[in-house]
Order: sequence, then C-alpha cells, then structure tokens
Amino acid sequence: MRGMILAGGAGTRLFPLSQVASKQLQPVYDKPMIYYPLETLMSSGIRDICLISSPHDLPVFQRVLGSGEQWGVDLSYEVQPEPGGIAQAVIIGESFVEQDPFALVLGDNIFHGEIGLKPLISTFGGGAVIWGCRVEDPQRYGVIEIDSSGSVVSIEEKPDNPKSDLAVPGLYVYDGTAVSRAKDLTPSSRGELEITDLNLSFLDDGQLSAVELGRDVTWMDSGTHESLLESSAFVAAIEREHGQKVACLEEVAYNMGFVSLKEIMQTIEKMPKSPYRTYCERSILG
Ligand code: G1P
Repeated sequence: MRGMILAGGAGTRLFPLSQVASKQLQPVYDKPMIYYPLETLMSSGIRDICLISSPHDLPVFQRVLGSGEQWGVDLSYEVQPEPGGIAQAVIIGESFVEQDPFALVLGDNIFHGEIGLKPLISTFGGGAVIWGCRVEDPQRYGVIEIDSSGSVVSIEEKPDNPKSDLAVPGLYVYDGTAVSRAKDLTPSSRGELEITDLNLSFLDDGQLSAVELGRDVTWMDSGTHESLLESSAFVAAIEREHGQKVACLEEVAYNMGFVSLKEIMQTIEKMPKSPYRTYCERSILG
C-alpha cells in the first residue's frame, strides 16, 4: 500500500508561528511535526510515500526530509497550489496513486499506540476505512454517527450539534476509486473539497467502514496553539517515562528492516553532535 501525507493549508490558526514555518514543520517537543505522521505510515510498513504541500512550503519539506533514502523509503512530492481541501490532495496525488489503495494521513495528526493500520493493510479488500475516536469537543472534527450494530449512519463535518462524540481522525485508507470520487465532489461553503464528502461517497455505496481507536491509542490534532503545546508535553512525558523516543525515524527504519545496520550508521554519522544523534547511536548501535 502507498502512503500520502497532506501537509498543506494556510496554518492561519497558528499565526504568528506560521510565519516562521508551516504548521507541519513546527516543533512537537524534539522533532518537526511531520516526523509523527511519517512514523505512522512507516511503522505500518509503508515505504512509498507522497507528501503534498503548498508551493511556498514544499521546498522546505524537501530540504528537511530529502528523498527518504536515509530511512529506506521513497519520498515524492506534489504541490497543492491553493488550500483547496483535503480531498483535493487526493486528486493531486492521482499519478502517484496509480489506481492502487493508499493510506492518507494528515500532517498535523499524531497517533501514539497500536492503531491497527498494519493488519488492516494486509487484509484490505477495497472501499474506504476510517477511524473513530471519542472526544470532548466533536464540533472541531468530522463526526460519525453509528447505529447499534456499529455501522456508520452519517458523517458530518464540524457540526454545531454533533450526533455523537466520535470524531474522525486524519487517517483514511482508500481504494483506487478515491481519485475519481474526489473529482466528482463539489466544493463546500468554505470553498474546499471536503474529506468528509469523499467519505460520504464511499458510505453512499456501502463501501465505508469505521474502526474505533483502542483506548490505549492517543490521537492528537496539533493544529492549534493549545493542541501543539499538549502534543509536545505528551511526547516529552512518554519519552521520559519509557526512555525511548517517539517517531525517531532512524530507529523506525532500522526496526522495520527498511535499512541495514551499515546504512543507518552512515546516516547517523552525518548528523551533527546532538542529543538526537546520541539517542540514535545508543538505541540502534547499542
Ligand atoms: C480535518 C477534517 C476533519 C477531521 C480532522 C482531523 O479537519 O476536515 O473531518 O476530523 O481533519 O484532524 P481540519 O483539521 O482541516 O479542520
């Protein structure tokens, strides 16, 4: 399965921080935010990844992340000229997707714990799969209504009166029909192609299923000052508690068998002397 990361958007909610760097390059404790969705895909075995961002920010992502070779992944890049919505990114990724199934993750979404993407990939038979996570502020998100059997009845984007507390995190698995479905969408009142409308297209055809995130999984959308601070505090606490880093991509790449010990050693040797390098040396080289 391929992976797509959308790291676009104007990031206006993070102004004036957004003047310095795009939202998805802001620090989440000790790493740029984009490392976390990359970890989500890589730790599920995805090695073919397309990152989509604005013309202004894309060169920075390319400089920071490069070709992905250092982590044994193939990173490609596409431009989203205007913030036209998440579903527009699916259309932009058309030549990358090539009719194959793909996992789309939003660049400001952080998942920690076993989300079940890896087993899903090995059994995925088509349609769309979304996740649901119980939250206190569903108005901020896409919201799923499910019936007593657990089937999805409706999905609403940022409803004033949510029908449930089940928010849709920014992780979606689609079959290749997602591109043509996205092309058939019409822009919402805010002028964007909504990911919720793409999900509704699958739902209308009986092709959508939703999985509730386990209680042991933490999900954070880091698009506001408060949630950015919370994400940093969360990652710092986990790292301190476990003595292990979250989203250390060198460690993930080596543990997943994407790179050999010799290759990862070469990558580490190029890093400036820093606590991050010391951690990589200790955790990988022993
Ligand atoms: C987007 C989606 C929303 C989803 C959320 C997850 O919202 O439109 O359905 O629940 O991501 O982070 P946005 O972050 O663009 O406001």
